[in-house]
Amino acid sequence: MQIKGSSQSCKDIDAQALAVPVFKGETADKGLLKELDRAVGGLISSIIKAEEFKAKDAETAYFYLTSSGLKAKRLLLIGCGERNDYEAAQISQMAGTATRFLRSKNVKTVAIVPRTEGSAEQAAETVVEGALMGLFEPDKYRTQEKEEREIDKLIVAIEGATKDDLENGVRRGEIIGESINFTRDLANEPGGYMTPTILAQRAIDVAKEYRLKIDVLDEARMRKLGMGGVLGVSRGSDEPPKLIVLTYNPKNAGAKSDRLLALVGKGVTFDSGGISIKPGENMELMKYDMSGAATVIGSMRAIAQLKPPIRVMGIAPCVENLPSGKATKPGDILRAMTGKTIEVINTDAEGRLILADAIAYAKKLGATQVIDMATLTGAVSIALGEVNVGILGTDQNLIQKVIEAGKQVGEKFWQLPLDKEYSNQIRSDIADIKNVGGRKAGTITAAAFLKEFADGVSWAHLDIAGTAWGDDAKPYRSKGPTGIAVRTLIRFIERSVDGNRRDS
Ligand code: BES
Ligand code: MN
Ligand code: ZN
Repeated sequence: MQIKGSSQSCKDIDAQALAVPVFKGETADKGLLKELDRAVGGLISSIIKAEEFKAKDAETAYFYLTSSGLKAKRLLLIGCGERNDYEAAQISQMAGTATRFLRSKNVKTVAIVPRTEGSAEQAAETVVEGALMGLFEPDKYRTQEKEEREIDKLIVAIEGATKDDLENGVRRGEIIGESINFTRDLANEPGGYMTPTILAQRAIDVAKEYRLKIDVLDEARMRKLGMGGVLGVSRGSDEPPKLIVLTYNPKNAGAKSDRLLALVGKGVTFDSGGISIKPGENMELMKYDMSGAATVIGSMRAIAQLKPPIRVMGIAPCVENLPSGKATKPGDILRAMTGKTIEVINTDAEGRLILADAIAYAKKLGATQVIDMATLTGAVSIALGEVNVGILGTDQNLIQKVIEAGKQVGEKFWQLPLDKEYSNQIRSDIADIKNVGGRKAGTITAAAFLKEFADGVSWAHLDIAGTAWGDDAKPYRSKGPTGIAVRTLIRFIERSVDGNRRDS
Protein backbone atom coordinates (compact mmCIF):
# COMPACT_ATOMS: atom_id res chain seq x y z
CA MET A 1 0.00 0.00 0.00
CA GLN A 2 1.27 3.40 -0.99
CA ILE A 3 0.82 6.07 1.70
CA LYS A 4 1.03 9.83 1.35
CA GLY A 5 -0.11 13.05 2.90
CA SER A 6 -2.17 15.74 1.22
CA SER A 7 -2.71 19.36 2.20
CA GLN A 8 -5.56 19.85 -0.27
CA SER A 9 -9.10 20.56 0.74
CA CYS A 10 -10.75 17.20 1.22
CA LYS A 11 -13.32 18.03 -1.43
CA ASP A 12 -10.58 17.98 -4.05
CA ILE A 13 -8.79 14.83 -2.98
CA ASP A 14 -8.51 12.23 -5.65
CA ALA A 15 -9.53 9.02 -3.91
CA GLN A 16 -12.40 6.58 -4.27
CA ALA A 17 -13.50 7.12 -0.69
CA LEU A 18 -13.23 9.86 1.89
CA ALA A 19 -13.40 8.89 5.58
CA VAL A 20 -14.39 11.59 8.06
CA PRO A 21 -14.70 11.40 11.86
CA VAL A 22 -17.86 12.86 13.40
CA PHE A 23 -18.37 13.71 17.07
CA LYS A 24 -21.36 13.30 19.33
CA GLY A 25 -23.77 16.21 19.16
CA GLU A 26 -22.28 17.67 15.97
CA THR A 27 -24.86 19.13 13.62
CA ALA A 28 -23.03 19.87 10.37
CA ASP A 29 -23.77 23.57 10.56
CA LYS A 30 -20.19 24.76 10.90
CA GLY A 31 -16.63 24.10 9.84
CA LEU A 32 -15.61 21.09 7.82
CA LEU A 33 -18.86 19.18 8.30
CA LYS A 34 -20.85 22.12 6.97
CA GLU A 35 -18.61 22.34 3.94
CA LEU A 36 -18.92 18.63 3.28
CA ASP A 37 -22.66 18.64 3.94
CA ARG A 38 -23.11 21.26 1.27
CA ALA A 39 -21.01 19.32 -1.18
CA VAL A 40 -23.13 16.20 -0.70
CA GLY A 41 -26.51 17.94 -0.84
CA GLY A 42 -27.33 17.79 2.86
CA LEU A 43 -26.85 14.04 3.36
CA ILE A 44 -24.83 14.54 6.54
CA SER A 45 -27.21 16.94 8.27
CA SER A 46 -30.17 14.74 7.24
CA ILE A 47 -28.80 11.53 8.68
CA ILE A 48 -27.85 13.32 11.90
CA LYS A 49 -31.27 15.00 12.16
CA ALA A 50 -33.03 11.70 11.54
CA GLU A 51 -30.97 10.29 14.43
CA GLU A 52 -29.87 7.45 12.22
CA PHE A 53 -26.26 8.34 12.96
CA LYS A 54 -25.34 9.49 16.45
CA ALA A 55 -21.56 9.39 16.19
CA LYS A 56 -21.24 6.73 18.86
CA ASP A 57 -17.79 5.11 19.02
CA ALA A 58 -17.06 3.21 15.79
CA GLU A 59 -20.56 3.82 14.40
CA THR A 60 -20.41 4.16 10.63
CA ALA A 61 -22.54 5.69 7.87
CA TYR A 62 -21.58 4.94 4.30
CA PHE A 63 -22.77 6.90 1.29
CA TYR A 64 -22.34 6.15 -2.36
CA LEU A 65 -22.43 9.54 -4.07
CA THR A 66 -23.80 9.63 -7.59
CA SER A 67 -23.41 13.35 -7.98
CA SER A 68 -21.72 15.63 -5.48
CA GLY A 69 -19.15 18.33 -5.06
CA LEU A 70 -16.61 15.80 -3.82
CA LYS A 71 -14.06 14.21 -6.04
CA ALA A 72 -14.35 11.04 -3.96
CA LYS A 73 -17.42 9.06 -4.90
CA ARG A 74 -17.86 7.42 -1.53
CA LEU A 75 -18.15 9.06 1.87
CA LEU A 76 -17.69 7.23 5.14
CA LEU A 77 -18.65 8.93 8.39
CA ILE A 78 -17.08 7.39 11.48
CA GLY A 79 -18.48 8.04 14.93
CA CYS A 80 -15.78 9.07 17.39
CA GLY A 81 -17.74 9.83 20.56
CA GLU A 82 -17.11 13.04 22.48
CA ARG A 83 -14.94 15.65 20.77
CA ASN A 84 -13.12 16.31 24.07
CA ASP A 85 -12.11 12.68 24.37
CA TYR A 86 -10.74 12.54 20.82
CA GLU A 87 -7.08 11.73 21.40
CA ALA A 88 -4.41 9.39 20.06
CA ALA A 89 -6.31 6.18 20.82
CA GLN A 90 -9.49 7.45 19.19
CA ILE A 91 -7.69 8.85 16.14
CA SER A 92 -5.84 5.60 15.64
CA GLN A 93 -9.01 3.55 16.07
CA MET A 94 -10.93 5.80 13.70
CA ALA A 95 -8.29 5.19 11.04
CA GLY A 96 -8.36 1.45 11.70
CA THR A 97 -12.15 1.37 11.45
CA ALA A 98 -11.99 3.34 8.20
CA THR A 99 -9.48 1.06 6.49
CA ARG A 100 -11.15 -2.15 7.65
CA PHE A 101 -14.58 -0.94 6.60
CA LEU A 102 -13.49 0.34 3.20
CA ARG A 103 -11.36 -2.70 2.46
CA SER A 104 -14.43 -4.85 3.04
CA LYS A 105 -16.16 -2.78 0.32
CA ASN A 106 -13.21 -3.44 -1.97
CA VAL A 107 -12.30 0.24 -2.16
CA LYS A 108 -8.78 0.73 -3.54
CA THR A 109 -7.91 4.32 -2.69
CA VAL A 110 -8.83 5.85 0.65
CA ALA A 111 -8.41 9.33 2.08
CA ILE A 112 -8.72 9.85 5.83
CA VAL A 113 -9.26 13.25 7.41
CA PRO A 114 -8.02 13.21 11.04
CA ARG A 115 -9.82 16.45 12.09
CA THR A 116 -7.43 17.28 14.92
CA GLU A 117 -6.23 20.67 16.01
CA GLY A 118 -2.73 19.83 17.23
CA SER A 119 0.41 18.96 15.29
CA ALA A 120 -0.18 17.78 11.72
CA GLU A 121 2.88 15.55 11.88
CA GLN A 122 1.52 13.83 14.97
CA ALA A 123 -1.93 13.44 13.44
CA ALA A 124 -0.55 11.95 10.23
CA GLU A 125 1.61 9.53 12.20
CA THR A 126 -1.29 8.36 14.34
CA VAL A 127 -3.62 7.92 11.35
CA VAL A 128 -1.05 5.85 9.46
CA GLU A 129 -0.34 3.67 12.50
CA GLY A 130 -4.04 3.08 13.07
CA ALA A 131 -4.68 2.35 9.40
CA LEU A 132 -1.84 -0.17 9.18
CA MET A 133 -2.87 -1.82 12.43
CA GLY A 134 -6.44 -2.01 11.17
CA LEU A 135 -5.41 -3.86 8.06
CA PHE A 136 -3.45 -6.59 9.83
CA GLU A 137 -5.07 -10.02 9.50
CA PRO A 138 -3.82 -13.05 11.41
CA ASP A 139 -4.92 -15.39 8.61
CA LYS A 140 -1.71 -16.23 6.82
CA TYR A 141 -2.28 -19.97 7.12
CA ARG A 142 -5.79 -19.88 5.74
CA THR A 143 -6.06 -21.03 2.15
CA GLN A 144 -9.80 -20.43 1.72
CA GLU A 145 -11.99 -17.39 2.41
CA LYS A 146 -8.86 -15.48 3.17
CA GLU A 147 -8.95 -11.69 3.33
CA GLU A 148 -7.35 -10.95 0.00
CA ARG A 149 -8.76 -7.55 -0.79
CA GLU A 150 -6.23 -4.79 -0.47
CA ILE A 151 -6.26 -1.04 -0.35
CA ASP A 152 -3.68 0.24 -2.84
CA LYS A 153 -3.34 3.80 -1.69
CA LEU A 154 -3.93 5.70 1.54
CA ILE A 155 -3.99 9.48 1.74
CA VAL A 156 -3.90 11.39 5.01
CA ALA A 157 -5.75 14.62 4.29
CA ILE A 158 -4.82 17.57 6.48
CA GLU A 159 -5.75 20.79 4.77
CA GLY A 160 -3.02 23.41 4.93
CA ALA A 161 -0.41 21.14 6.55
CA THR A 162 3.20 21.62 5.51
CA LYS A 163 4.87 19.13 3.22
CA ASP A 164 7.50 18.36 5.89
CA ASP A 165 4.97 17.62 8.59
CA LEU A 166 3.01 15.33 6.31
CA GLU A 167 6.07 13.50 5.05
CA ASN A 168 7.59 13.04 8.49
CA GLY A 169 4.32 11.96 10.03
CA VAL A 170 3.61 9.43 7.28
CA ARG A 171 7.13 8.05 7.44
CA ARG A 172 7.05 7.67 11.21
CA GLY A 173 3.59 6.15 11.07
CA GLU A 174 4.75 3.60 8.51
CA ILE A 175 7.80 2.61 10.54
CA ILE A 176 5.87 2.27 13.78
CA GLY A 177 2.73 0.70 12.27
CA GLU A 178 4.73 -1.88 10.36
CA SER A 179 6.84 -2.68 13.41
CA ILE A 180 3.69 -3.22 15.47
CA ASN A 181 2.35 -5.58 12.81
CA PHE A 182 5.72 -7.33 12.73
CA THR A 183 5.34 -7.93 16.47
CA ARG A 184 1.77 -9.15 15.98
CA ASP A 185 2.86 -11.55 13.26
CA LEU A 186 5.51 -13.08 15.52
CA ALA A 187 3.05 -13.43 18.39
CA ASN A 188 0.52 -15.09 16.12
CA GLU A 189 2.85 -17.85 14.93
CA PRO A 190 2.07 -21.26 16.38
CA GLY A 191 4.71 -22.91 18.54
CA GLY A 192 5.58 -25.34 15.77
CA TYR A 193 6.60 -22.50 13.49
CA MET A 194 8.07 -20.28 16.17
CA THR A 195 10.69 -22.13 18.17
CA PRO A 196 13.43 -20.27 20.07
CA THR A 197 15.74 -20.93 17.11
CA ILE A 198 13.28 -19.49 14.60
CA LEU A 199 12.54 -16.49 16.79
CA ALA A 200 16.27 -15.82 17.06
CA GLN A 201 16.55 -16.09 13.28
CA ARG A 202 13.81 -13.50 12.88
CA ALA A 203 15.80 -11.20 15.16
CA ILE A 204 18.92 -11.81 13.07
CA ASP A 205 16.96 -10.89 9.93
CA VAL A 206 15.82 -7.64 11.56
CA ALA A 207 19.36 -6.85 12.65
CA LYS A 208 20.66 -7.37 9.12
CA GLU A 209 17.95 -5.36 7.46
CA TYR A 210 18.10 -2.38 9.81
CA ARG A 211 21.75 -2.54 10.86
CA LEU A 212 21.52 -3.45 14.50
CA LYS A 213 24.20 -5.34 16.33
CA ILE A 214 23.09 -8.83 17.30
CA ASP A 215 24.38 -11.58 19.51
CA VAL A 216 22.48 -14.82 20.04
CA LEU A 217 23.68 -16.85 23.02
CA ASP A 218 23.34 -20.60 22.63
CA GLU A 219 22.97 -23.18 25.36
CA ALA A 220 26.73 -23.62 25.86
CA ARG A 221 27.29 -19.92 26.46
CA MET A 222 24.34 -19.75 28.80
CA ARG A 223 25.74 -22.68 30.76
CA LYS A 224 29.07 -20.88 31.09
CA LEU A 225 27.28 -17.83 32.39
CA GLY A 226 25.37 -19.96 34.89
CA MET A 227 21.93 -19.09 33.59
CA GLY A 228 20.14 -21.76 35.59
CA GLY A 229 16.79 -20.06 35.16
CA VAL A 230 16.69 -20.20 31.37
CA LEU A 231 18.29 -23.65 31.28
CA GLY A 232 15.97 -25.01 33.96
CA VAL A 233 12.87 -24.03 32.00
CA SER A 234 14.27 -25.21 28.70
CA ARG A 235 15.35 -28.67 29.96
CA GLY A 236 12.07 -30.39 29.17
CA SER A 237 12.13 -29.38 25.52
CA ASP A 238 14.06 -30.78 22.56
CA GLU A 239 14.32 -27.25 21.18
CA PRO A 240 17.50 -25.48 22.34
CA PRO A 241 17.08 -22.17 24.18
CA LYS A 242 18.37 -18.89 22.72
CA LEU A 243 19.10 -15.55 24.30
CA ILE A 244 18.76 -12.72 21.81
CA VAL A 245 20.69 -9.48 22.35
CA LEU A 246 20.02 -6.69 19.87
CA THR A 247 21.93 -3.44 20.28
CA TYR A 248 21.20 -0.04 18.83
CA ASN A 249 24.05 2.46 19.05
CA PRO A 250 23.26 5.98 17.88
CA LYS A 251 25.84 7.59 15.59
CA ASN A 252 26.03 10.71 17.74
CA ALA A 253 25.43 9.47 21.24
CA GLY A 254 25.76 12.93 22.73
CA ALA A 255 27.22 13.62 26.13
CA LYS A 256 24.87 11.41 28.10
CA SER A 257 26.12 8.19 26.59
CA ASP A 258 26.44 6.48 29.97
CA ARG A 259 22.72 5.85 29.79
CA LEU A 260 21.86 2.42 28.44
CA LEU A 261 18.24 1.34 28.28
CA ALA A 262 17.53 -2.39 28.11
CA LEU A 263 14.19 -3.68 26.88
CA VAL A 264 13.80 -7.24 28.11
CA GLY A 265 11.02 -9.49 26.80
CA LYS A 266 9.75 -12.93 27.78
CA GLY A 267 10.12 -15.34 24.88
CA VAL A 268 8.35 -18.55 25.83
CA THR A 269 7.52 -19.81 22.35
CA PHE A 270 5.05 -22.26 23.82
CA ASP A 271 3.99 -22.58 27.43
CA SER A 272 2.40 -25.92 28.23
CA GLY A 273 3.11 -25.33 31.93
CA GLY A 274 5.78 -28.05 31.93
CA ILE A 275 5.34 -30.80 34.54
CA SER A 276 2.79 -28.55 36.28
CA ILE A 277 0.89 -28.89 33.03
CA LYS A 278 -1.91 -26.52 32.12
CA PRO A 279 -5.46 -27.69 31.46
CA GLY A 280 -6.18 -28.33 27.76
CA GLU A 281 -8.78 -25.61 27.39
CA ASN A 282 -7.29 -22.59 25.59
CA MET A 283 -3.79 -24.03 25.82
CA GLU A 284 -3.34 -23.28 22.10
CA LEU A 285 -3.24 -19.60 23.03
CA MET A 286 0.03 -20.16 24.86
CA LYS A 287 1.79 -19.67 21.53
CA TYR A 288 1.61 -15.97 22.34
CA ASP A 289 3.70 -16.40 25.49
CA MET A 290 6.60 -14.92 23.51
CA SER A 291 4.76 -11.61 23.05
CA GLY A 292 7.24 -9.80 25.31
CA ALA A 293 10.12 -10.93 23.11
CA ALA A 294 8.12 -9.99 19.99
CA THR A 295 7.50 -6.54 21.47
CA VAL A 296 11.20 -6.10 22.10
CA ILE A 297 12.20 -7.16 18.58
CA GLY A 298 9.44 -5.05 16.99
CA SER A 299 10.42 -2.01 19.04
CA MET A 300 14.09 -2.42 18.14
CA ARG A 301 13.07 -2.69 14.48
CA ALA A 302 11.40 0.72 14.75
CA ILE A 303 14.16 2.27 16.88
CA ALA A 304 16.77 1.25 14.29
CA GLN A 305 14.90 3.34 11.74
CA LEU A 306 13.83 6.28 13.90
CA LYS A 307 17.35 6.64 15.28
CA PRO A 308 16.86 8.30 18.67
CA PRO A 309 20.10 9.57 20.28
CA ILE A 310 20.27 7.05 23.14
CA ARG A 311 21.64 3.55 23.36
CA VAL A 312 19.03 0.82 23.52
CA MET A 313 19.47 -2.89 23.97
CA GLY A 314 16.79 -5.50 23.28
CA ILE A 315 17.15 -8.74 25.21
CA ALA A 316 14.91 -11.77 24.80
CA PRO A 317 15.38 -15.10 26.57
CA CYS A 318 13.65 -17.70 24.39
CA VAL A 319 12.59 -21.17 25.48
CA GLU A 320 9.84 -23.72 25.09
CA ASN A 321 8.18 -24.90 28.31
CA LEU A 322 7.32 -28.59 27.92
CA PRO A 323 7.10 -31.64 30.15
CA SER A 324 9.40 -34.59 29.47
CA GLY A 325 11.63 -37.09 31.24
CA LYS A 326 14.26 -34.38 31.46
CA ALA A 327 12.04 -31.54 32.56
CA THR A 328 12.51 -29.58 35.77
CA LYS A 329 10.17 -30.91 38.44
CA PRO A 330 8.24 -29.14 41.15
CA GLY A 331 10.56 -29.10 44.16
CA ASP A 332 13.72 -28.81 42.07
CA ILE A 333 16.14 -26.02 42.82
CA LEU A 334 17.67 -23.81 40.16
CA ARG A 335 20.66 -21.50 40.54
CA ALA A 336 20.19 -18.26 38.66
CA MET A 337 23.02 -16.35 37.01
CA THR A 338 23.32 -14.07 40.03
CA GLY A 339 23.89 -17.11 42.26
CA LYS A 340 20.47 -16.87 43.89
CA THR A 341 18.82 -20.24 44.41
CA ILE A 342 15.20 -20.75 43.44
CA GLU A 343 12.88 -23.48 44.59
CA VAL A 344 10.56 -24.31 41.70
CA ILE A 345 7.16 -24.88 43.26
CA ASN A 346 5.29 -24.72 39.98
CA THR A 347 6.94 -25.22 36.60
CA ASP A 348 4.20 -23.11 35.04
CA ALA A 349 5.66 -20.01 36.69
CA GLU A 350 8.47 -20.16 34.13
CA GLY A 351 8.49 -16.63 32.75
CA ARG A 352 10.02 -15.15 35.88
CA LEU A 353 12.75 -17.83 35.85
CA ILE A 354 14.00 -16.87 32.40
CA LEU A 355 13.55 -13.14 33.01
CA ALA A 356 15.65 -13.39 36.17
CA ASP A 357 18.69 -14.36 34.08
CA ALA A 358 17.86 -11.94 31.27
CA ILE A 359 17.61 -8.98 33.64
CA ALA A 360 20.86 -10.03 35.32
CA TYR A 361 22.49 -10.26 31.91
CA ALA A 362 21.23 -6.80 30.94
CA LYS A 363 22.94 -5.46 34.04
CA LYS A 364 26.11 -7.36 33.19
CA LEU A 365 26.09 -5.65 29.79
CA GLY A 366 25.90 -2.29 31.50
CA ALA A 367 22.21 -1.42 31.41
CA THR A 368 21.32 1.52 33.62
CA GLN A 369 17.59 1.27 33.00
CA VAL A 370 15.57 -1.90 32.46
CA ILE A 371 12.02 -2.20 31.20
CA ASP A 372 10.85 -5.77 30.96
CA MET A 373 7.64 -6.94 29.35
CA ALA A 374 6.05 -10.31 29.70
CA THR A 375 2.83 -12.28 29.42
CA LEU A 376 3.63 -13.17 32.99
CA THR A 377 0.44 -13.84 34.93
CA GLY A 378 -3.15 -14.83 34.31
CA ALA A 379 -3.84 -12.76 37.42
CA VAL A 380 -3.25 -9.52 35.56
CA SER A 381 -6.27 -10.22 33.33
CA ILE A 382 -8.35 -10.88 36.42
CA ALA A 383 -7.25 -7.53 37.86
CA LEU A 384 -7.18 -5.31 34.75
CA GLY A 385 -8.83 -7.25 31.91
CA GLU A 386 -7.66 -6.48 28.42
CA VAL A 387 -7.84 -2.72 28.95
CA ASN A 388 -4.78 -1.85 31.03
CA VAL A 389 -1.24 -3.18 31.07
CA GLY A 390 -0.10 -3.83 34.64
CA ILE A 391 3.00 -1.83 35.49
CA LEU A 392 5.20 -2.23 38.56
CA GLY A 393 8.78 -1.48 39.43
CA THR A 394 11.33 0.15 41.65
CA ASP A 395 11.76 3.53 39.96
CA GLN A 396 8.64 5.64 40.34
CA ASN A 397 9.98 8.24 37.94
CA LEU A 398 10.51 5.65 35.22
CA ILE A 399 7.07 4.14 35.82
CA GLN A 400 5.49 7.57 35.60
CA LYS A 401 7.24 8.29 32.33
CA VAL A 402 6.08 5.03 30.78
CA ILE A 403 2.49 5.68 31.89
CA GLU A 404 2.73 9.19 30.47
CA ALA A 405 4.14 7.98 27.13
CA GLY A 406 1.29 5.46 27.00
CA LYS A 407 -1.25 8.23 27.51
CA GLN A 408 0.18 10.14 24.58
CA VAL A 409 -0.06 7.24 22.17
CA GLY A 410 -3.34 5.87 23.50
CA GLU A 411 -2.18 2.80 25.42
CA LYS A 412 -3.24 2.37 29.04
CA PHE A 413 -1.07 1.33 31.95
CA TRP A 414 -2.17 0.89 35.53
CA GLN A 415 0.33 0.71 38.32
CA LEU A 416 0.08 -2.01 40.95
CA PRO A 417 1.90 -1.66 44.28
CA LEU A 418 5.13 -3.48 45.05
CA ASP A 419 5.51 -3.05 48.82
CA LYS A 420 8.27 -5.10 50.36
CA GLU A 421 5.74 -7.12 52.38
CA TYR A 422 4.76 -8.97 49.19
CA SER A 423 8.25 -10.45 49.05
CA ASN A 424 7.41 -12.51 52.14
CA GLN A 425 5.16 -14.61 49.92
CA ILE A 426 8.09 -15.85 47.84
CA ARG A 427 10.31 -16.91 50.75
CA SER A 428 11.37 -20.53 50.45
CA ASP A 429 12.01 -22.97 53.30
CA ILE A 430 15.00 -24.49 51.58
CA ALA A 431 16.34 -21.99 49.01
CA ASP A 432 16.73 -18.22 48.71
CA ILE A 433 13.34 -17.74 47.08
CA LYS A 434 10.56 -19.80 45.50
CA ASN A 435 8.91 -19.14 42.17
CA VAL A 436 5.30 -18.76 43.28
CA GLY A 437 3.75 -16.69 46.02
CA GLY A 438 0.40 -18.39 46.47
CA ARG A 439 -3.04 -17.40 45.28
CA LYS A 440 -3.02 -13.84 46.58
CA ALA A 441 -1.75 -10.93 44.48
CA GLY A 442 -0.31 -13.13 41.73
CA THR A 443 0.80 -10.30 39.46
CA ILE A 444 2.52 -8.53 42.32
CA THR A 445 4.36 -11.54 43.70
CA ALA A 446 5.61 -12.31 40.18
CA ALA A 447 7.03 -8.78 40.05
CA ALA A 448 8.43 -9.18 43.57
CA PHE A 449 10.30 -12.20 42.24
CA LEU A 450 11.78 -10.17 39.35
CA LYS A 451 12.71 -7.39 41.76
CA GLU A 452 15.19 -9.81 43.34
CA PHE A 453 17.20 -9.59 40.14
CA ALA A 454 16.73 -5.91 39.33
CA ASP A 455 18.61 -4.35 42.21
CA GLY A 456 20.98 -1.56 41.31
CA VAL A 457 19.15 -0.45 38.18
CA SER A 458 16.17 1.69 37.45
CA TRP A 459 13.50 -0.90 36.67
CA ALA A 460 9.92 -1.16 35.43
CA HIS A 461 7.97 -4.30 34.60
CA LEU A 462 5.02 -4.54 32.22
CA ASP A 463 2.67 -7.49 32.60
CA ILE A 464 1.04 -7.75 29.17
CA ALA A 465 -0.69 -11.13 29.65
CA GLY A 466 -4.12 -9.48 29.50
CA THR A 467 -3.43 -6.97 26.74
CA ALA A 468 -1.20 -8.70 24.19
CA TRP A 469 -4.10 -10.75 22.84
CA GLY A 470 -7.56 -9.51 21.87
CA ASP A 471 -10.17 -12.23 22.36
CA ASP A 472 -12.66 -10.44 20.09
CA ALA A 473 -12.38 -8.57 16.82
CA LYS A 474 -13.00 -4.83 17.05
CA PRO A 475 -14.12 -2.53 14.24
CA TYR A 476 -10.58 -1.17 14.19
CA ARG A 477 -8.58 -4.39 14.47
CA SER A 478 -8.79 -8.13 14.04
CA LYS A 479 -9.03 -10.59 16.87
CA GLY A 480 -5.66 -11.89 18.06
CA PRO A 481 -2.26 -10.32 18.78
CA THR A 482 -2.40 -6.59 19.53
CA GLY A 483 1.23 -5.46 19.50
CA ILE A 484 0.62 -3.68 22.82
CA ALA A 485 3.40 -1.48 24.21
CA VAL A 486 5.46 -1.03 21.04
CA ARG A 487 4.11 2.49 20.49
CA THR A 488 4.50 3.39 24.14
CA LEU A 489 8.11 2.23 24.31
CA ILE A 490 9.04 4.20 21.21
CA ARG A 491 7.36 7.30 22.55
CA PHE A 492 9.01 6.79 25.93
CA ILE A 493 12.44 6.56 24.31
CA GLU A 494 11.94 9.58 22.08
CA ARG A 495 10.34 11.67 24.78
CA SER A 496 13.06 10.96 27.27
CA VAL A 497 15.64 12.37 24.88
CA ASP A 498 13.99 15.43 23.43
CA GLY A 499 12.17 16.79 26.41
CA ASN A 500 8.74 18.10 25.58
CA ARG A 501 8.98 18.43 21.84
CA ARG A 502 6.46 15.67 21.19
CA ASP A 503 4.11 16.56 23.99
CA SER A 504 0.63 17.30 22.80
N1 BES B 1 2.21 -17.56 30.45
C1 BES B 1 1.51 -17.71 31.68
C2 BES B 1 0.64 -16.52 32.02
C3 BES B 1 -0.55 -16.32 31.12
C4 BES B 1 -1.76 -16.87 31.44
C5 BES B 1 -0.45 -15.51 30.01
C6 BES B 1 -2.85 -16.65 30.64
C7 BES B 1 -1.53 -15.29 29.21
C8 BES B 1 -2.74 -15.85 29.54
C9 BES B 1 2.52 -17.89 32.81
O1 BES B 1 3.67 -18.54 32.48
C10 BES B 1 1.82 -18.69 33.86
O2 BES B 1 1.51 -19.81 33.58
N2 BES B 1 1.58 -18.09 35.01
C11 BES B 1 0.92 -18.76 36.06
C12 BES B 1 1.66 -18.45 37.33
C13 BES B 1 1.23 -19.29 38.50
C14 BES B 1 1.63 -20.74 38.27
C15 BES B 1 1.87 -18.75 39.73
C16 BES B 1 -0.51 -18.22 36.12
O3 BES B 1 -0.71 -17.04 35.88
O4 BES B 1 -1.40 -19.02 36.36
MN1 MN C 1 3.46 -20.64 32.58
ZN1 ZN D 1 4.25 -18.41 30.50
